[in-house]
Amino acid sequence: MAEQVATNITFHEGTVSAEERVENMGQKGATFWFTGLSGSGKSTIAVAVEQVLLSRGNHAYRLDGDNIRMGLNKNLGFSPEDRTENIRRIGEVSKLFADAGVLSIASFISPYSEDRNAVRALHAENNVPYFECYIDCSLEAAEERDPKGLYKKARAGEIKGFTGIDAPYEAPANAELHLKTHEDDLETCVAKVIEFIDAQNLFA
Ligand code: ADX
Repeated sequence: MAEQVATNITFHEGTVSAEERVENMGQKGATFWFTGLSGSGKSTIAVAVEQVLLSRGNHAYRLDGDNIRMGLNKNLGFSPEDRTENIRRIGEVSKLFADAGVLSIASFISPYSEDRNAVRALHAENNVPYFECYIDCSLEAAEERDPKGLYKKARAGEIKGFTGIDAPYEAPANAELHLKTHEDDLETCVAKVIEFIDAQNLFA
């Protein structure tokens, strides 16, 4: 848990109601949190889902592990503490996007249940819809794909603390959506996510 450091600060409420925002955006915002191994297909599915949503006229935005680690989180590595801080910050950012009325599609390994649960709790406290989507892929299949050659490096000992090899991945027990990318192809996975999004009554 990050500690509150600043003192003498007061939360400043706005006047825009949740209803007014929905009317303005034509949709209610929400976070769709993709968790899974590196190479599981999180980013690939997220890119395709974002495109489908935009093409239909919905407002969506992707937050992606590698990308955010080149900007906002460039000062974080892959120690357990840094991963926790990575997920905490992204959880806050995704909550803000969703609160602004955007469908935020956040793709992060997010290997620790405790960190994901903290993001879930943050959304609940702020009445922002949150859906955990487990992008499940066997380690064998992810390693076989190895799109960035990182599993090969990790097996060779060139990367220490690689998720699935010598760092843990705690699979979600209560994800709202569970995809198996070693069984379904990309098109099927994307269709399942869109169907899931459409079932949440987010569109005005
Ligand atoms: S998380 O664990 O903190 O959620 P995040 O999703 O931001 O990870 O970043 C994961 C990406 O960083 C991977 O897809 C991979 O490209 C890269 N990466 C580099 N080193 C590691 C590592 N040790 N473990 C996992 N991913 C790594």
